[in-house]
Amino acid sequence: MKIVPGTASQALGARIAAELSCELVACEFKRFPDGELYTRITGDVEGEHAVIVQSIRSDSDLVALLQLLDAAEDASKITAVIPYLGYARQDKRFKPGEAVSIRAIARSISYGAPALDTVYVVNVHDHAELRYFQVAVHELDASPLIGNYIMNMGIEPASVVVIAPDEGAAELARAVAAPYGLDYEVMEKKRLTGEEVEIKPKELSIDGKNIVIVDDIISTGGTIAEATKRMRERNAGDIYVACVHGLFVQNAILRMLHAGVKEIISTDTVESVFSRVSIAELVAKELERGVEVQ
Ligand code: R5P
Repeated sequence: MKIVPGTASQALGARIAAELSCELVACEFKRFPDGELYTRITGDVEGEHAVIVQSIRSDSDLVALLQLLDAAEDASKITAVIPYLGYARQDKRFKPGEAVSIRAIARSISYGAPALDTVYVVNVHDHAELRYFQVAVHELDASPLIGNYIMNMGIEPASVVVIAPDEGAAELARAVAAPYGLDYEVMEKKRLTGEEVEIKPKELSIDGKNIVIVDDIISTGGTIAEATKRMRERNAGDIYVACVHGLFVQNAILRMLHAGVKEIISTDTVESVFSRVSIAELVAKELERGVEVQ
């Protein structure tokens, strides 16, 4: 097995290679004068099992992934690890004529290379959208890693309440809280615009409790900022936020800190200074298991 890291997942690719003690293949990425992306795998993957690791946060990331799939055509087998599968929130037609973005992306990846065998993704927005892939696809769950990190932050477990800011994050909150017997609560969210949401609290007492708000994605930070304000109104203690995919666009960090968040925790599906939890071991174990069952 050889690990081929894309533009968006270079550190994570290196961590996965280290976990597996296998080769990290060198690649070259640059732009032509007209802005087009140029991608070349400079290492040798001929006849090898090439594992391409590339999150999709942007259009360019998708192009780089498709180019890597194409560039690895001499590999005997290709696995694509897509830690953050962007475009997954546009998973249906909300207005007539809209593209179902995740369907378009899944189709383009599925047919990106004849040797593409399996795709791994991490905590996708909605499991149902995986049906759009035309190759085997497996979803990995980072919630145990987040739960483990929270339990090692030195906070008294009895003082912790895990909060899901909306129904969509309920499963994640339960998966983080349940193994450790932590309390958890699901709030009600109504989206007003792309950046603004309204959040209504429910009734669990959080007076003086330490709060961990969990969500699959933090994008503009609007959801977390609103949830944090509601928690402060209810006299919460320290407020932490943890997410799987930390996109942190626009002024997200400032918005959350200004609302009263004490610490921001994310995994390295999208690499940032807040990537305190690595999914490398989780991915490495799955890749090993995938090889064993064949
Ligand atoms: C929405 O369904 C997701 O689970 C997140 O709550 C959302 O993407 C967060 O976006 P933002 O940070 O812009 O509020």
